[in-house]
Amino acid sequence: MNRTVYVNGQFVSESDARISIFDRGFLFGDGVYEVSAVLDGGLVDNTAHLARLERSLGELGMDSPATLEDIERAQKELVARNDLDEGIVYLQITRGPADRDFAYPAEPKPTLVMFTQKKALVDNALAERGIAIVTVPEQRWRRRDIKTVGLLAASMAKQAALDAGADDAWMVEDDFVTEGSSNNAWIVTGDGVVVTRNLGSEILHGITRAVVLQLARERQIAIEERAFTVEEAKSAAEAFITSASTFVLPVVGIDGETVGDGTPGPITRRLREIYIESARAGADR
Ligand SMILES: Cc1ncc(COP(=O)(O)O)c(C=O)c1O
Repeated sequence: MNRTVYVNGQFVSESDARISIFDRGFLFGDGVYEVSAVLDGGLVDNTAHLARLERSLGELGMDSPATLEDIERAQKELVARNDLDEGIVYLQITRGPADRDFAYPAEPKPTLVMFTQKKALVDNALAERGIAIVTVPEQRWRRRDIKTVGLLAASMAKQAALDAGADDAWMVEDDFVTEGSSNNAWIVTGDGVVVTRNLGSEILHGITRAVVLQLARERQIAIEERAFTVEEAKSAAEAFITSASTFVLPVVGIDGETVGDGTPGPITRRLREIYIESARAGADR
């Protein structure tokens, strides 16, 4: 594959892209990122992703090398140059290259990179089968509301899940599920109430989570934003995850125990349909 990627204002072939070995993203994980879905060649929920990017930058006192308008223009150009119909656009901003020092550089020169990845998002076999998850202890830092590139604990959780023959991991702190390795965690109670953890620094404020909550509210589906335990999740009627690259994906097993009847539940299926319909309608070219 030889995609066109974006590096600090330039569109270049991926084999020509260069970043300094002194980049603080590389040395310290000192960077933030966003992943936006692309459907029918258009960006999904991108305004909200860029608003979260701005917040992440602000929380870390990091400058952006470009305005949000410039970033969005470059995202669209990248999608067009790569002729991407369905997949994701990844973007990352780091504090840039500097002599290695824990303190921030006095005059940072932030790095901005972007690339696309082709992926079938709508026709996802896992949406029909449902995924199996395992629970693992929460090992990440305490500012999970900032979307930083420091993803090792999440990566370890995902690998532990694969090693156990499952598809993904939910992380657990003080008996309560925080979220998935790269997604928000949800359950549906026996009474049809859709439950996902309330916002705080314990979880990433998922953009898909916010949109699904809004779409559910508009359809008078009962919602509770609160923490739930692994036990409650195991005995729930349905469970699912949300993220920009999975949309709404059913969870049919937790730690080897079947959720509901072991197939994707009706409320989960409906929310996936509603979300995809809204994402398609809003996809911004
Ligand atoms: C830890 C974590 N939680 C939740 C999400 C879902 O967020 P979004 O819906 O904005 O993709 C992600 C996405 O990467 C994530 O990494």
